[in-house]
Amino acid sequence: MTYLLALDQGTSSSRSIVFDATGRILAMAQREFRQIFPQPGWVEHDADEIWDSQLATAREALAKAGLQAQQIKALGITNQRETTVLWNRKTGQPVHHAIVWQDRRAEPICAELRAQGLSGLVREKTGLVIDAYFSGSKLKWLLDHVPGARAQAERGELAFGTVDSWLMWRLSEGRIHATDVSNASRTLLFNVRSNAWDEELLALLQIPRALLPEVHPSAHVYGQAAARHLGAEIAIGGVAGDQQSALFGQACFKAGMAKNTYGTGCFMLMHTGEQFQSSANGLISTSAAQASARPEFALEGSVFIGGAVVQWLRDGLHAFSNSQEVQGLAESVPDAGGVMFVPAFTGLGAPYWQPQARGAIVGLTRGSTMAHIARAALESIAFQSAALLQAMSSDAVAAGAAPVTELRVDGGACVNNLLMQFQADLLGIPVLRPRVIETTALGAAYLAGLSTGVFKNLGDLEQHWRAERVFHPTLSRERAQGLMADWERAVRQTVTV
Ligand code: G3P
Repeated sequence: MTYLLALDQGTSSSRSIVFDATGRILAMAQREFRQIFPQPGWVEHDADEIWDSQLATAREALAKAGLQAQQIKALGITNQRETTVLWNRKTGQPVHHAIVWQDRRAEPICAELRAQGLSGLVREKTGLVIDAYFSGSKLKWLLDHVPGARAQAERGELAFGTVDSWLMWRLSEGRIHATDVSNASRTLLFNVRSNAWDEELLALLQIPRALLPEVHPSAHVYGQAAARHLGAEIAIGGVAGDQQSALFGQACFKAGMAKNTYGTGCFMLMHTGEQFQSSANGLISTSAAQASARPEFALEGSVFIGGAVVQWLRDGLHAFSNSQEVQGLAESVPDAGGVMFVPAFTGLGAPYWQPQARGAIVGLTRGSTMAHIARAALESIAFQSAALLQAMSSDAVAAGAAPVTELRVDGGACVNNLLMQFQADLLGIPVLRPRVIETTALGAAYLAGLSTGVFKNLGDLEQHWRAERVFHPTLSRERAQGLMADWERAVRQTVTV
């Protein structure tokens, strides 16, 4: 039997999963690590803690599976994207905590670039908007603020990387300084059309070329993890940012195929094939995980507050003590009783882009109960996701393609049947929940298996994908459109700060 190991380095925890060659899970391990908040709006991770926790879970997963490293054909890495690490090439030590994707400190740098009228150029080359979310402005902040860093960078003494690069550097004991196209496409420094670092963007952000990792397709043998870490050398055969990895793990390989990951937030991606496509509806364009040197693209939109709304009901309103109770509470009423909940706690993302919006619960009556609010909270996850899918379908149609015909789902909250049924009802297309919902890790394992010959081609992988349950729409389109109109009205009722 052939086995693959996926390292899934996320924002709040590091996880490792051992898969067999049919995509079945053998064992899994997970460790949380510190979230560091030095000031409001700043979020950091200690890159050493990321490494330590990741390595510990990899060892634990192998032990739980009862396997030796020699029995692992290859490992794949998938990671929280955009989080920026800067380290010394000689000592291997980070020069600062990693700046996490959620961190807003680089906003003034971005505001200046936007004021210079560079948004069009950046979108044209990278598919992105100029925002502090992406790595480039975080890296510039580090070079401007860490004493001596810029001079060291110019002398070639430092290395920049997203978390995938950092893990590969450590795994290979400094022999590999590389990343894949899907991670590179989140930096604001990478030209997704030519699949290369872009000199003009580097100059705009004053980033020395010597800092940058080599870029390879996502399925690629990057090198070997050193024997001392896991007990034997293991080939590093695949790398992808977590959302692109999930798209790959869902076997969405063709234009028009879409997935939504229901986590703390939601990330929806639609494959757009080999064509770079710009959105007329507020989505960003990004590189999809690439099985070969051939460029592949996706449109992406995110919901900032997805499952986090359930945590807020638990911790903010004390509606229940355990998040699992939300489904029972929401199901205790037939519908939300006219209540609409817009959880714009941190503004609204695509397709609204209202950073100053704040949350609202509207439509309350004397008869409204916590159950109605819980149901409206769950429904808000589906409403926000439906608005994203509508935007994607409009973009697809504008590009002469068909609208999206089904949505594949994953992430923790996709186990909630009420939510998935409501999602299908709103969308009017089937919602498919796969047998393996750990699709982020699965994507990385698939990429590693492809580059090392475990799988022959994408067709091989398509065969392994199976729906565990399909949620068919049951509402009339008229009723669903009425609900979407109610939602849009509630969005307009949110206040801005
Ligand atoms: O773009 C950020 C995303 O990659 C983070 O994903 O799952 O670690 O929250 P996650």
